[in-house]
Amino acid sequence: MTKITIAIDGFSSTGKSTVAKRLAKHLGYTYVDSGAMYRAVTWYAMKHNFINKERFDIDSLVSHLDDIHLNFVFNKEVGFAEVYLNDENIEKQIRTLEVSNFVSKVAEISEVRSQLVKQQQKLGKGKGVIMDGRDIGTVVFPDAELKLFLTANAENRAKRRFDELIKRGEKVLYDDVLKNVQERDYIDSHRTDSPLVKAKDAIEIDNSDMTKDEQFQIILDLVNKTLKEKS
Ligand code: DC
Repeated sequence: MTKITIAIDGFSSTGKSTVAKRLAKHLGYTYVDSGAMYRAVTWYAMKHNFINKERFDIDSLVSHLDDIHLNFVFNKEVGFAEVYLNDENIEKQIRTLEVSNFVSKVAEISEVRSQLVKQQQKLGKGKGVIMDGRDIGTVVFPDAELKLFLTANAENRAKRRFDELIKRGEKVLYDDVLKNVQERDYIDSHRTDSPLVKAKDAIEIDNSDMTKDEQFQIILDLVNKTLKEKS
């Protein structure tokens, strides 16, 4: 059976990973969360005090990039692959608002990007891959058979992220989450290296007023249409 590569890009908290995970399960594809890789490098930088509120020692982080070994290990209980940094499961640590507050700065660094893009391309070699992020359709897999670009208004996205963080037991304020979403939108789409832009051949889906099921169905129809065209 033909297998394709599916690239899902878009602003933060547009529900990319939720729909990608469900799609991967439905199709028997591999799901790769490229944002988790940028978050893992950020976590490493925080742990080594290369980044904090006062300063960001870019040179030290860049000189330690070869010491950062990332892995994805499928966890049957949660139904997706969790991220490991040097053999430590850091799936929970990378989802905090603190990591979110630094990650866009780390993702601006070209050396970080080129290192992670190489790994992402390796992970997608065999096709049958769904990867979500900011530059998947433009840089990582410019030849992906199906490219999606998800959008939604910032308030809806902040509310989704806020609910998620509260559910996980984090003590956060909605206004701080909204501020983080807006700041990341700005940095992610204005950086020099691989800014978040919609690929020319990507299909845009605004899910502000869609249920998860509605969005899933729309995307599944697009996948089936693409598979038909390719077979
Ligand atoms: O998808 P996410 O919110 O977990 O991503 C975290 C950050 O990582 C996001 O603000 C920008 C960066 N990122 C990126 O620059 N390129 C990617 N392919 C994925 C994420």
